[in-house]
Order: sequence, then C-alpha cells, then structure tokens
Amino acid sequence: MKKVSVPITNNFCPQTLFLYGTYNEDGMPNFGLFCWFSYCWDSGLGVMACIGGDKLTKDRIRATGVFSANLVTESILPLADYFGNTEGYSADKMNIPIETSKGAVLDVPILDSSPLAFELEVSQTIPLNDSEVYICRIRNVQVDEELSGENRSVEERIQAIAPVRTTCQTYFSWTGKALGKWGELMQQRKP
Ligand SMILES: Cc1cc2nc3c(=O)[nH]c(=O)nc-3n(C[C@H](O)[C@H](O)[C@H](O)COP(=O)(O)O)c2cc1C
Repeated sequence: MKKVSVPITNNFCPQTLFLYGTYNEDGMPNFGLFCWFSYCWDSGLGVMACIGGDKLTKDRIRATGVFSANLVTESILPLADYFGNTEGYSADKMNIPIETSKGAVLDVPILDSSPLAFELEVSQTIPLNDSEVYICRIRNVQVDEELSGENRSVEERIQAIAPVRTTCQTYFSWTGKALGKWGELMQQRKP
C-alpha cells in the first residue's frame, strides 16, 4: 500500500496504561496516569518511564526515588481517567474512596483494585529539555492470585483482567472496542 507522510504523533501505536503511585510527605498516597512506559535490560528486566512538565508525581519520584506502576484495566478505567486529568497539586485530588496497601519491598502505595503492580526504584535519571526519563530497577512484581495460577491459559487470564490500551487520545478495550476519549470517563468517578 502507498505510504503518506503525516504530522509527527504516535497515533495508531497502542500503549499500555499505568497508574504511578507515590507517597506525599504527609504519607497520603497520590496516583497519576501514565503511558510513556516501556522496558529495558540492565542485568535484569528494568523499566523506563518518561514524565513531562511539572507534576506532583515527578516531585515525589525525585524526592523518594521510588514509585509503583499499577496496570490499568477496564474495571478501573474511570478512576484512572480521573487520576490522569486531575492535578496532584490541587488539594482535594485524593479525596476519593480507594483502597491501597504498602509495597511488599518498597515504601510505595499499591492500588488494590489493579491486578498487577511493579515496585520501582529509580537507578538513573536522564534530564531532557521538557521532561525526565527514569531508568528503574523492578524490585518486586505483585499480581492477583488469578494471574499467577497455571490452570488457565494466558489468553483466558489476560481476557479476565482486560488491560486498557490507548492511542489517538482514545481508550480501547483489550478486544479493540473504543471505550471513550481521554477526560470523558472521569465523569463517572469524579468526587
Ligand atoms: C491517558 C493519559 C496518559 C498520560 N500519560 C502521561 C505520561 O506518560 N507522561 C506524563 O508526563 N504525563 C502523562 N499524563 C498526564 C498525567 O496523568 C497528569 O499530568 C496527572 O495530573 C499526573 O498526576 P499528578 O498531577 O498527581 O502527578 C497522561 C494523561 C492521560 C489522560
């Protein structure tokens, strides 16, 4: 098929979504929504994450050197959309009922309703003009028991958790159905 050049975007390149969890100075958890997330190898599997601009999640990662990355699935998508469209700097962002627990290895908040969480320790920070890239050691991975059992196929297990993908500022189900534009679904979870 003939190719055409288009403006630079990553449209039509689906990305997995994660909620990054950090503790504020007062011990309150804060979550933000992120998709610039991938993997690297450095004597073991690692994570690379890019955060742009000024935001509370970035301040807290800089201050503590640790954060959690909680996989976004269909059942928590309205909550995730809220965390991605509400600034942590606004005082009441976290006045919303959620259940969290502390990481098993690191002092990071884990979102109980996500089926998979990485506990991440920043090993290198690469400053760019408008953002920072964090190279992280994966210190622990926590999954719901239903994911760790081998008695169901990988296909059955991933369909059961239904991870969300995003491109073109739109959320998509694991099966490829459009679920809404960024900023639309948060209306269901707004406090
Ligand atoms: C779908 C989606 C993906 C996002 N991905 C990123 C990202 O990868 N990097 C980034 O810097 N901000 C990203 N954001 C913006 C942050 O989620 C937003 O700035 C949020 O307020 C961060 O939380 P905080 O203010 O509590 O730190 C994304 C927002 C949405 C809606």
